Amino acid sequence: MNLEKGNLLYRGKAKDIYQTSQQEQVIVKFRDDITAGDGEKKETMGLKGYYNSLISAKLFTILENALIKTQYIDLPEPGYMLSHKLEMIPLEVITRNIAAGSLLRRFPFQEGQTFNPPIIQMDFKNDEYHDPMLNDDIILALGLATSDELEIIREITIKINGVLKNFLENKGLLFPDFKIEFGRDCDDNIVLGDEISPDTCRFWDRETKDILDKDLFRKGESGVIEAYQKVANMILDDEDKKKWSLDF
Ligand code: TMP
Ligand code: ASP
Repeated sequence: MNLEKGNLLYRGKAKDIYQTSQQEQVIVKFRDDITAGDGEKKETMGLKGYYNSLISAKLFTILENALIKTQYIDLPEPGYMLSHKLEMIPLEVITRNIAAGSLLRRFPFQEGQTFNPPIIQMDFKNDEYHDPMLNDDIILALGLATSDELEIIREITIKINGVLKNFLENKGLLFPDFKIEFGRDCDDNIVLGDEISPDTCRFWDRETKDILDKDLFRKGESGVIEAYQKVANMILDDEDKKKWSLDF
């Protein structure tokens, strides 16, 4: 690999962030570690980082083409994303188009019920407190973001949902919900960061309704990597596959 990685700046549960020689650029390394329950359940799955980096790069590119600012600069090789350096905001911004997951455990919604407009939920990204759901007053009181930033985050999130839902449905995938994270760049602009992958989204096959995301791991089912590979296969075009010499 020709990438020159500098100091390790941050190690998360599934990704590492390295400084590069450019002050405002970092390399995001997508690891093969997969966790659930705030890291209590943990395994390593070969090729997970590889597929997640390809899927994230593709979805960030789709968003950039729709004029949404993301951290993405380039994917010099699968598993490694050259990105703008961001000061991350510890909010998990969750958008829900179809009722699933923790929403059904907490509220009397019907499984599969659709939301139009979608529900936007903000959780505190904090394993120690188990990522509790927030409201605007708590976000402001904790000093996580300003009210102007929150307004921008909501606006961008709604746009991201529209762009991705449309793209994925055309590729044969339903997009029940997803989690994104934002940061501030060196000019204090709000920029989409982190990743958009089967680790952080629900993807269901539109025809069969098969689960193609980390819910398989959360539920202890098999075929996790095969599901991630299927998502990559469905959303990457022939040019992407040729570029990475992928033979699906
Ligand atoms: P939930 O239904 O379990 O709250 O998950 C909502 C969405 O957020 C789902 O697409 C998966 C994603 N997610 C994360 O990215 N990280 C997490 O820690 C959790 C719990 C969910
Ligand atoms: N973020 C949680 C963890 O790493 C996993 C989840 O997505 O459920 O433990």
